[in-house]
Amino acid sequence: MATAIIIALLAITHSGIAHYTKFPEGFTFGVATASHQIEGAWNVSGKSENVWDRLTHSRPWMIADGTNGDIACDSYNKYQEDVDHLAYLGVDFYRFSLSWARILPTGRVDHVNPDGIRYYNALLDALAEKNIEPLVTLFHWDLPQSLQDLGGWANPKMIDYFRDYSDVCFREFGDRIKSWITINEPYEICEDAYGDDKKAPAIDSHGVGNYLCSDNLLKAHAEVYHLYNDTYRPQQNGRIMISINSIWYEPSDPEDAEQVALAEVANQFKFGWFAHPIFTEEGGYPAVMVENVAQQSQAEGLPKSRLEQFDDYWIERIKGTSDFLGINHYTTHLVTGPGVDPIAKSPSWLKDIGAVTTMNVGGDSASEWLRVVPTGFANLLRWCKSSYNDAPIYITENGFSDRGDLDDYGRIQYLNDYLSALLHVIYEDDVKVLGYTLWTLMDNFEWRAGFSERFGLYYVDITDPERLRTPKLSADYYKQLIAARELPEDDRFKNPAHIDRSEL
Ligand code: NOJ
Repeated sequence: MATAIIIALLAITHSGIAHYTKFPEGFTFGVATASHQIEGAWNVSGKSENVWDRLTHSRPWMIADGTNGDIACDSYNKYQEDVDHLAYLGVDFYRFSLSWARILPTGRVDHVNPDGIRYYNALLDALAEKNIEPLVTLFHWDLPQSLQDLGGWANPKMIDYFRDYSDVCFREFGDRIKSWITINEPYEICEDAYGDDKKAPAIDSHGVGNYLCSDNLLKAHAEVYHLYNDTYRPQQNGRIMISINSIWYEPSDPEDAEQVALAEVANQFKFGWFAHPIFTEEGGYPAVMVENVAQQSQAEGLPKSRLEQFDDYWIERIKGTSDFLGINHYTTHLVTGPGVDPIAKSPSWLKDIGAVTTMNVGGDSASEWLRVVPTGFANLLRWCKSSYNDAPIYITENGFSDRGDLDDYGRIQYLNDYLSALLHVIYEDDVKVLGYTLWTLMDNFEWRAGFSERFGLYYVDITDPERLRTPKLSADYYKQLIAARELPEDDRFKNPAHIDRSEL
């Protein structure tokens, strides 16, 4: 480690803070996408309707710019070109997701769609040609509508459906896919789609549906882990994890003990909701979550809590079911004090936290929620190390939105500052981060924001039937970074107007 530190330590900044630029030996880099956001071909070759098709077609006004995923980036047809761009960037791995409705049109295993299998085989072959490892997400939000009609993640039967679907994927693709992610961002699914109307299927059963969803989703995740572990791992020798997202919460005033305590509660409600059951020795939902929801439920006159702790069987069954801690991280928000957040519905997850939060922090991006706070990333990683037993970590998403600038200095600065923060905690705090995934290869269908918020290294012209992809300056930044395994110091990537490396 000492030699690594000497090699990595390039300079001490004016603020006296060590500035690391070099990535450790063996650290890997990738980019991510998700099926519904890029594939298009929404009703082609046997694919059935998913919950996002249903939402965008039946309530188009819910999407900021009225776009949808019908064609998206047309990656169903242009996957070979996408792989060429990945090869140009020089990534070690490509994270993408499988469309459940393309593989199993009814959602169940009664019919496996041969064209769905063919498509992903072709993509996997194209990646193998270029020596790019696949990192594959089984579920990135595009649930077959037929399963939603049965209640979706609020239905305990989903545990079987998800296991059966995953079984098909392991069987068909597991000889070539050695890294799996079961579920992407369970918080966004349970809170935004079941506890609110921010994501499809927009159930908005606040304070109730969100907790039903987490019960089923965590059990389903665990069953898929055990299926892989017991049945497939012995032959396929791969690894499997879950990707949990955080908006990291910090106290608005770090000297205020009450705010500090409330920020911890908020982090337990946000990240701990899904991480605590899997990554702690104790297992189950975080105690503070169980207590708060029980108290709120009692105050609401309910005979029992809206969130019940798992029983002993499930606590044990869920514990330890992830080989790595997959973290999707973009931003930090602040906790300003106790109380009910003015935007909280009643009852709701947000009201259950009992804290008031604000997004008034850091620099801005094209997304209201995405504030640029690299120090928050460092603090989140330190917290994960101490809260989750030093679990080995993959950053499975991180990125920045703008309106589609080709000279995207904002993105380059964001990446540079967040990656500096990452290097800092790797070397100074010994946080075990093994790889980094940038969101995203190309501008794509950003859910309810449509194409109005763009996160890509490549610009995608959605008015062009060919969906022309044009590399942005950040594509060259990332390419150079990967080739050298070091943060580029090239003047091309410095916008003299606003270079300001944050303090860690
Ligand atoms: C998280 C999600 O996994 C991805 O689908 C989304 O586009 C990015 N964050 C940016 O919001």
